[in-house]
Amino acid sequence: MGAAKDLVRLLILVEVVVAIAGPGAAALSMDYYAMTCPFAEYIVRNVVSEAVMGDPTLAAGLLRLHFHDCFVQGCDASVLLDSTAGNTAEKDAPANKSLRGFEVIDKIKQMLEAQCPGVVSCADVLAFAARDAVLFAGGPYYGVPTGRRDGSRSVFSDTFTALPAPFLNASSLISLFATHGFNVQDMVALSGGHTLGVAHCAAFKTRLTTETATLDSGLGSSLAAACKSGGDSATATFDRTSTAFDGVYFKELQQRRGLLSSDQTLFESPETKQLVNMFAMNPGYFFFAFQQGMLKMGQIDLKEGDHGEVRKSCRVVNSGRW
Ligand code: HEM
Ligand SMILES: *[C@@H]1O[C@H](CO)[C@@H](O)[C@H](O)[C@H]1NC(C)=O
Ligand SMILES: *[C@@H]1O[C@H](CO)[C@@H](O)[C@H](O)[C@H]1NC(C)=O
Repeated sequence: MGAAKDLVRLLILVEVVVAIAGPGAAALSMDYYAMTCPFAEYIVRNVVSEAVMGDPTLAAGLLRLHFHDCFVQGCDASVLLDSTAGNTAEKDAPANKSLRGFEVIDKIKQMLEAQCPGVVSCADVLAFAARDAVLFAGGPYYGVPTGRRDGSRSVFSDTFTALPAPFLNASSLISLFATHGFNVQDMVALSGGHTLGVAHCAAFKTRLTTETATLDSGLGSSLAAACKSGGDSATATFDRTSTAFDGVYFKELQQRRGLLSSDQTLFESPETKQLVNMFAMNPGYFFFAFQQGMLKMGQIDLKEGDHGEVRKSCRVVNSGRW
């Protein structure tokens, strides 16, 4: 009788764990490196701190790297792998346009390998580094559960369907994000990652001529001038405070100063407009929703124990080939 009860209890427990983690998902934990690499988090923070003090725009690069990692093949550092003779990697896909921060990750990894070789995965390094980048830019601090494993697949064409295109409308963004379990609030808050950084004219020039009704005319003409003189590789910041993690991105959407179509659509579409207004009015609420979104994003399609490794170099798989 007692044994039967225990079994029932165990089954319920298993069910609850599976419900939280999803079937076959690897579970992360908050003190994963406590015994094996207790200073891992400090090492990451120090290198990120130094890097963004030298170049504040790198915070944007580090945040975007984590996003591009997680949306393609899950958070497994696939975005960090270099192309090889027989394979074009994710980072060399057109959507990589201007991915930045690889050298910062290399430096962190090098220091971690000196301290505790073969212990801290590159996917976890990315998750920590993105969090710290946000923190140093004035954004929220949130705990990052760890224990991710690095994957071995990185194929440029995987990015075509996995990453959102800058011309998507709100409904398409909602559907794409929903495939990873994000709700509408998560999607709008995560889009707020564009409070940092820049985009190239190639990504927004179409909006300049086709969306004049939802584009501030002063901004429109200055962007058009910049793109005319600099071509596709000219850049513009997403908001006026591009190295500060704040609510200004959402305020600018209200002023029709969104840079990408996928930014402005959030204010123009009834499904997302109220969230934009709420985040613009209350940056604290944006910070809260952003943390929730990042926590979810950091757990997309994690590799299970046997299906991953801890890379020695973030740029190559341990076997040296694939
Ligand atoms: C909602 C769908 C999204 C779309 C369509 C999108 C698209 C883009 C595009 C086109 C760029 C500019 C690339 C270039 O021209 O160089 C960019 C930059 C950036 N994205 Fe997104 N993105 C999205 C979501 C996100 C999310 C969820 C995050 C992070 C939480 C993020 C973080 C960034 C950052 C920080 C930059 C600036 C990078 C830099 O300055 O180096 N984006 N995004
Ligand atoms: C991104 O891909 C392009 C090709 O589309 C390539 O020329 C460039 O070097 C890549 N950038 C990075 C940072 O790997
Ligand atoms: C959004 O884009 C999709 C795909 O292009 C299209 O089918 C849909 O009608 C668009 N929705 C709105 C509200 O414009």
